[in-house]
Amino acid sequence: MASSLRIGVVFLLAVFAFFQASCSSEQEHTVLKMGHALPTDHPVHEAIVFFANRVAELSSGKIQVDIYPGAQLGSEREMMELLQIGSLAMTKVSSSPMESFVPEMKVFSMPYVFRDSEHYWTVLNSEIGRDLLTAGESVRLRGLAYYDAGARSFYSVKKPIQTPSDLAGLKIRVQKSQTSIRMVNTLGGAGTPVSFGELYTALDQGVVDGAENNPPSFEKSRHYEVAKYYSLNEHTYVPDIVLISTYVWDRLSDQEQVWLQQAMDESVEYQRVLWTEATEQALQRVREAGVNVIYPDKTLFSEKVEPMYESVKGQPAYDLIKKIKKMGAPR
Ligand code: GCU
Repeated sequence: MASSLRIGVVFLLAVFAFFQASCSSEQEHTVLKMGHALPTDHPVHEAIVFFANRVAELSSGKIQVDIYPGAQLGSEREMMELLQIGSLAMTKVSSSPMESFVPEMKVFSMPYVFRDSEHYWTVLNSEIGRDLLTAGESVRLRGLAYYDAGARSFYSVKKPIQTPSDLAGLKIRVQKSQTSIRMVNTLGGAGTPVSFGELYTALDQGVVDGAENNPPSFEKSRHYEVAKYYSLNEHTYVPDIVLISTYVWDRLSDQEQVWLQQAMDESVEYQRVLWTEATEQALQRVREAGVNVIYPDKTLFSEKVEPMYESVKGQPAYDLIKKIKKMGAPR
């Protein structure tokens, strides 16, 4: 009895200490730390700056969001772990590495689930999208919104990827997600997880032969300086997700939660406009820098990954994928 009481007290003290570290509040002034992995000229970072400014405006300076970009607080996985213990208030991650915390998230890393950007946004804004956003609450990760992260495609250093057979023998960097590893392996390559911050060097030194990402991230990370073939096979649409630790969220007043959510929703609209521009610009810039942009036959890739759907039979992702594929499908 006494020892369980002691454990309870220690736990409460730890939670309190972590909360203090992530969110300092002095006389109605709350500072929320937010970390992410992308560079400061990336459209996602620009949207987060917009969010932080709107939060300050709406709350008349009572809430301040301090942004730590460029993975200076750790990898996306590490930042999610910091949210879980309450020592970081907010983060923006890709939904791929989130699947280790929230298994339902793997639907986003399954290839060719979405037909196009319109289908993807219809699903994100539907009940399915909303439910997925809060599916991580039980593990202390509450989603506030999705940001557009477009479609991901392969890029390679030595030779172009025109068909899945071109992936044979190639080490392709993926995010820390079992589904992404399996996708590359099913296509014939060797899926190799490397953190985003270490990827430029890994490509440059031949640790991996290629990677996969959306056009703005390919360009802003400068991976195109090393990888001169970009093959727009668009295998996945993996949204970015803005997360807040439930330790922090639950301590905010109703009014503060409304301010945060409103600022977030407005930043989503802004980010979608930025995203379209950044995608066009990125493709133009990488072409100008000598990248060979290839438009392969996507059906060769989508047919090859068909067996992946059967492999998740019996898991929640299977039914979700079925529902998603039916949504807005032409009759
Ligand atoms: C995208 C995504 C990032 C992620 C990156 C990656 O750019 O927006 O959150 O870190 O992909 O491939 O690691």
